[in-house]
Amino acid sequence: MKAIAYQKFGNTDVLQTVEEPKPVIRANEVLVKVKAVSINPMDWKIRKGEMKLMSGSTFPRHTGVDFAGVIEDTGAAVTNFKKGDEIFGVVKNNMKDGALAEYVAVPVTNVWKKPANISFAQAASIPIVGAAAVTALEKMGNINAKSHILVNGATGGFGMFLLQLLKQKKANVTAVASTKAVDLAKKWGADTVVDYTTENVLALQKNYDIIIDLSGKLGYTNARQIMKPKSLFLNPTPRPIEIPTSLFKNLFTGKKHLVMLSQASSKNMEVLLNAVSKGLQIEVSKVFPFTQSMEAYQYAERGGVIGKVAIEIN
Ligand SMILES: NC(=O)c1ccc[n+]([C@@H]2O[C@H](COP(=O)([O-])OP(=O)(O)OC[C@H]3O[C@@H](n4cnc5c(N)ncnc54)[C@H](OP(=O)(O)O)[C@@H]3O)[C@@H](O)[C@H]2O)c1
Repeated sequence: MKAIAYQKFGNTDVLQTVEEPKPVIRANEVLVKVKAVSINPMDWKIRKGEMKLMSGSTFPRHTGVDFAGVIEDTGAAVTNFKKGDEIFGVVKNNMKDGALAEYVAVPVTNVWKKPANISFAQAASIPIVGAAAVTALEKMGNINAKSHILVNGATGGFGMFLLQLLKQKKANVTAVASTKAVDLAKKWGADTVVDYTTENVLALQKNYDIIIDLSGKLGYTNARQIMKPKSLFLNPTPRPIEIPTSLFKNLFTGKKHLVMLSQASSKNMEVLLNAVSKGLQIEVSKVFPFTQSMEAYQYAERGGVIGKVAIEIN
């Protein structure tokens, strides 16, 4: 089968199309004919060697954590899926494995039934950023119409899910996005949209109960200026040093800093599938064919993407 692999850390030019044997499944695994893979920033952070502490440095490596496809074969212990089922899922080890290939083998606990009314590219866009949005919502605690929440970097994959989940909670949401994404941010549930290309959210004289920084460009030190005395800064893009220091910092201030890490699980996929059944929209703004995988990553890594970018495999 064809797969995308790389032999050293680097830019998109390290990505190569290679010929490999079809994976062999274990008793608790399913073999999936991959139809689509969505791109996440973690794909390129790993590929560039920025997450070596967690990813290790062995080669060859594969890429693409989120996928959707059709079950081709099931292991002897698998009872809840059968050949032909349409599913979406995540690879076994998101720091080492990749689904950007004709086939992928994963534990059956890593796949979920694809809703019939969404495409493979949309389904492949759910797990990583969807799970992150559900986790963010949990970390925010009890929120309601009186909660003023700022989502910085609101119209990428993570923001797309988060805005719509916050809307369901009726929170008062300010989204920070670029000009071309302003209308979609409103459609996804933002009450106010700040265009970061023309306005500085720090200068707007408004304070928030919760700030989540999805761009990683605001930062806790800046955000403190616009946080209420008792408030929360949620950080899904921590620098390694922020993980141990966050607890210590919180002892001396009501403006709490919380690092968040999420994982796709059946519990959070259930929340997302329920939201999709109620009309949550999944915007895949650009789809590339498998033969243009390198171009797909170049496109995504340039920024300016609304929602998700996906790669389709025939
Ligand atoms: N901790 C976790 O568990 C977890 C899970 C999933 C993702 N993440 C991380 O969360 C981050 C967001 O993920 P994503 O998939 O949504 O990434 P993304 O699609 O690249 O979204 C990032 C957003 O930030 C916006 N942005 C860029 N510069 C900005 C600025 N100066 N001010 C405000 N917004 C700005 C971008 O808008 P434009 O492109 O229009 O400029 C884009 O909409 C990534 O770093 C990812 O690795 C963490």
